[in-house]
Amino acid sequence: MDLIEKYQQLDYGPAPENASKVHTWLSEHEQKFNHFINGQWHEPSDKSWFASNNPATGELLAEVAQGSSDDVDAAVKAARKAQKDWAGMGGHQRARYLYALARLVQKHSRKLAVLESLDNGKPIRETRDIDIPLIARHFYHHAGWAQLMDEEFPGYEAMGVVGQVIPWNFPLLMMAWKIAPALAAGNTVIIKPAEFTSLTLLMFAELAMEAGLPKGVLNIVTGDGRTGAAIVEHKDVDKIAFTGSTDVGRIIRRSVAGSGKSLTLELGGKSPFIVFEDADLDSAVEGLVDAIWFNQGQVCCAGSRLLMQEGIAERLVAKIKDRMEHLRLGSPLDKSIDIGAIVDQSQRDRIDEIVQQGAKEGAEVWQPACPMPDTGCYYPPTLMTELSTANIAAREEIFGPVLVAMTFRTQQEAIELANNSRYGLAASVWSENINRALEVAPKLKSGVVWINSTNLFDAAVGFGGYRESGFGREGGKEGMYAYLKPSFERKLKAAKPQPMPKIKLDSNVVGIPGVDRTAKHYIGGKQARPDGGNSIEVADHQGHLAGIVGEGNYKDIRNAVEAASKATGWASTSHHNRAQILYYIAENLGYRAQEFADRIRQLSGASKEAAMDEVNAAIERLFTYAAWADKYDGRAHTPPMRGIALAMNEPIGVLGIACPDESPFLAMISLLAPALAMGNRVVLLPSERYPLLTTDFYQILETSDVPAGVVNIVTAHKDTLAMTLAKHDNVDALWYFGSNDTCTAIETEAAWNMKRTWVSYGKAYDWHNRKHSAGEYVLRKACEVKNIWIPWGDMA
Ligand code: NAI
Repeated sequence: MDLIEKYQQLDYGPAPENASKVHTWLSEHEQKFNHFINGQWHEPSDKSWFASNNPATGELLAEVAQGSSDDVDAAVKAARKAQKDWAGMGGHQRARYLYALARLVQKHSRKLAVLESLDNGKPIRETRDIDIPLIARHFYHHAGWAQLMDEEFPGYEAMGVVGQVIPWNFPLLMMAWKIAPALAAGNTVIIKPAEFTSLTLLMFAELAMEAGLPKGVLNIVTGDGRTGAAIVEHKDVDKIAFTGSTDVGRIIRRSVAGSGKSLTLELGGKSPFIVFEDADLDSAVEGLVDAIWFNQGQVCCAGSRLLMQEGIAERLVAKIKDRMEHLRLGSPLDKSIDIGAIVDQSQRDRIDEIVQQGAKEGAEVWQPACPMPDTGCYYPPTLMTELSTANIAAREEIFGPVLVAMTFRTQQEAIELANNSRYGLAASVWSENINRALEVAPKLKSGVVWINSTNLFDAAVGFGGYRESGFGREGGKEGMYAYLKPSFERKLKAAKPQPMPKIKLDSNVVGIPGVDRTAKHYIGGKQARPDGGNSIEVADHQGHLAGIVGEGNYKDIRNAVEAASKATGWASTSHHNRAQILYYIAENLGYRAQEFADRIRQLSGASKEAAMDEVNAAIERLFTYAAWADKYDGRAHTPPMRGIALAMNEPIGVLGIACPDESPFLAMISLLAPALAMGNRVVLLPSERYPLLTTDFYQILETSDVPAGVVNIVTAHKDTLAMTLAKHDNVDALWYFGSNDTCTAIETEAAWNMKRTWVSYGKAYDWHNRKHSAGEYVLRKACEVKNIWIPWGDMA
């Protein structure tokens, strides 16, 4: 046998990690854990514990407390008590604690990594080399944000008490993603790990004690979905942050609707992995190993949908199969295995169920002949081909080591296929042609795009989704804003309802009737008669008839949304162009300022000066957002790798805006202008009391080169129409200013397609106050941050 033959026959020997220290730690706790509340161990009120097992062997690791609502209440009380001092100690002091936690994670890194592998089933290689370093990095990075709070977030304050619920796929990493920004911002926390994987958080509780973290700042309550629900429903929690399945995300969205609790959701995904024919196929195959077999595919942003350009599909599939034959499954503690155990038998069953159903629906299922461990909860790496986009395996998040592969012909088709999903979390684009990759990336509807790479994460780079993948970002500055609120919000007063007065019958029409002045809707750049053929009378401030507007119904909304959906050019037009058009609107409004001021006076009875002030403030507001249009343009992050991550502020899409009655003209402009500046298309529901100000305004839109469909106006019955928008699948976000009840109903309905909402909870903003309505506070609500990772370097 020559050397080459010998080399080819070499096999891997076992390379087990030593778990004795972790077992000692478990024994020290007599394999039984209570909650961590107010800086100490807290026995569950129900005296109820459940088993936490090692999925690779089935052995019992420990018993963990089942949290009751009393336990949650104790944790919330401790957090509330601690919050004032924690926020009050200032950014530098908090930075010291976060820094101490980062150092402690590094000092105890091996123990944490081993326990994570034992508890979750993931390979030690991943916990040791990926999870734990990222966790330490997260605490360091957020120590930095705490330190810079005063400079970087003036006018903002902590939300208060934050409830966080996390999944089992990256227990400790998800905890770091959640608690580091929350604590940095001055919040106190109640966090619940998933029932399968509580142990590393409990080990972390000891690090918190070692760091001397003040009592009550971090509380860990363990338990299942019932405990999670108790946190979500607790009345004294100010914000909920959740990572997990879209189904539970939807339940939570509905549960907190109307409570005024802030909410961020990081949900599921079905992320495309697009390989063009000019890609480096071998690199792409290695990328796939990371995309779908990392953490057994139990990754929300797993590249689970392979889209291959037709010309290379056969070759690529052959290479993938060859690579799959060499994947090694085995003990998570073996340093040389690729794939560990699935977290639990129930999850394994779920994976298999979708694979079997996919096969029934016509997919070809291929699994390599790689040896499988005799016992434990394992699932072989799986490739599914020959499937249609309607196949369950192509649509649903499988959350396992299963790759589905489909082909495309053209770049356009690749983009359409990639976006043909209700999710929008992440995407990978593989092409050696950087022009192509950079052209495709912004067109993908996902919060993260990796070019010639996959599953890259960094604390400085925001992570989060579009559509049913949730809303909000974790990491980066945008992630900090998710745990802060502007101080003025606390002081907002209740809005006074302004019902339409009953029209007085003393008609001022004398002699021959005048020309009809019924204001129609404005849809797709044209005036449109209301579908229902009805109209509504509008009163002036004395109750006389001031004019008539169309009575919109759901069909008018449908037409308006359709027109807005088609006006895609606005999103891609240059920022300079958008600025020009906003200036043009301001200019045309300037010519007719007196007319609008007169209208304000007629409708509201405002004084001459106040009415002109409102118009002038509206012109200024248009200038402000024209100014921002080409300046609110993202960042270039420099994560620790060779390359950059571009954080791009993108339009959300089709935005519904239901305007308030206070300062109705200025408010309408203050909401419309930032939405347009960021490239959104808008369906505008004017103030129900003062619709004529908005219908007068469409004459200005018509003369200001605003492309058809970019702004659509439907009048009357604002609340009913807003509900139609909330239910509409093609509306991506909804801003509603009006009654508290409708705010609740909107947040509940919005859960359907997880649209982003900004609602006023019946409060009145001061539209003349620039803090409320003229800057980044609003711009942030008008865009999504997409992070495009661009590694560089060529080894050739
Ligand atoms: P899940 O969404 O049920 O669990 C996530 C967390 O939410 C856990 O801590 C759980 O205890 C908690 N929870 C469950 N019901 C709750 C409720 N009503 N209120 C508050 N908290 C609640 O996810 P599960 O059942 O563990 O996995 C089911 C599927 O979800 C997976 O097969 C996978 O497809 C998907 N999933 C997606 C994740 C992601 O990051 N995208 C993470 C975990 C699961």
